[in-house]
Amino acid sequence: MMQTRAAIVTGGSRGIGRAIALELARLGYAVVVNYATRPDAADEVVSEIKAAGGEAVAVQGNVASAIDRDILVDRTMAEFDRIDALVNNAGITSQGRKDILEATEESWDLVFDTNLKGPFFLSQRVAKEMIRLLARNRITDGKIINISSVSGYAVSTNRADYCMTKAAIGMMTKLFAQRLADDGITVFEICPGVIESDMTAPVKDKYDRLIAEGIWPIRRWGRPDDVAKAVAAVVSDCFPFSTGERINVDGGFHIRRL
Ligand SMILES: NC(=O)c1ccc[n+]([C@@H]2O[C@H](COP(=O)([O-])OP(=O)(O)OC[C@H]3O[C@@H](n4cnc5c(N)ncnc54)[C@H](OP(=O)(O)O)[C@@H]3O)[C@@H](O)[C@H]2O)c1
Repeated sequence: MMQTRAAIVTGGSRGIGRAIALELARLGYAVVVNYATRPDAADEVVSEIKAAGGEAVAVQGNVASAIDRDILVDRTMAEFDRIDALVNNAGITSQGRKDILEATEESWDLVFDTNLKGPFFLSQRVAKEMIRLLARNRITDGKIINISSVSGYAVSTNRADYCMTKAAIGMMTKLFAQRLADDGITVFEICPGVIESDMTAPVKDKYDRLIAEGIWPIRRWGRPDDVAKAVAAVVSDCFPFSTGERINVDGGFHIRRL
């Protein structure tokens, strides 16, 4: 009997991660909705999935913590006995958005631990689990999807640490893609532009103005669902001969122009 595939979405409780969790559930995945601090938001996503007839569980865990990452993976295996997809979505912006000349080590450590160390070591742990599951024929393939940002190549001098973590996610994607291809696991980077969420709420006025001025070709805010649709395309095997690929979801922001 074909069993339900399972996916872990880090930071699946709000914003982009929430949309990804709901989309994966629509595609029939059992979803592990990871969150850090707000169980109410995670429970709401789980309830919505269950109300639509899907399977989901909320799992608290700070991706920056090795113990929490182990709990997240162990709990997923205990609940579903498989992991077909990992979406490394959880992320935070630079603390206090300080100018690069005033940037602090505290923000650096927090942002690097959350946005880079967490996804790196969670991918490592999940990849090993997927390799074991593939050997057991419990899963047929594995997908790791990393949510980066246009900030990985477009500078914001008041968010240096954030920008550098997102640039590194691009290299992380290629490293794991190379290492895991022979094992049957493909790895993708989804690179969102500016997306409506709690993270961008404080800079709403700035982007309303820039969008009206045409900062990117498609003159609207990105929506969490725009990113979720790209995740859906990847897990639906719309890119069967690709790995290490970056998929831009940015309204065309990456286009250079004269
Ligand atoms: N919004 C944008 O314009 C934009 C653009 C490009 C890329 N991105 C990237 O997309 C991802 C999601 O952004 P978003 O705008 O949806 O953010 P958001 O609205 O602030 O939501 C962040 C989510 O991540 C969780 N989270 C935060 N720190 C965590 C940690 N240490 N461990 C586990 N979960 C954690 C939060 O859970 P709690 O509520 O429980 O803390 C929440 O579910 C991030 O990686 C971000 O860098 C966003």
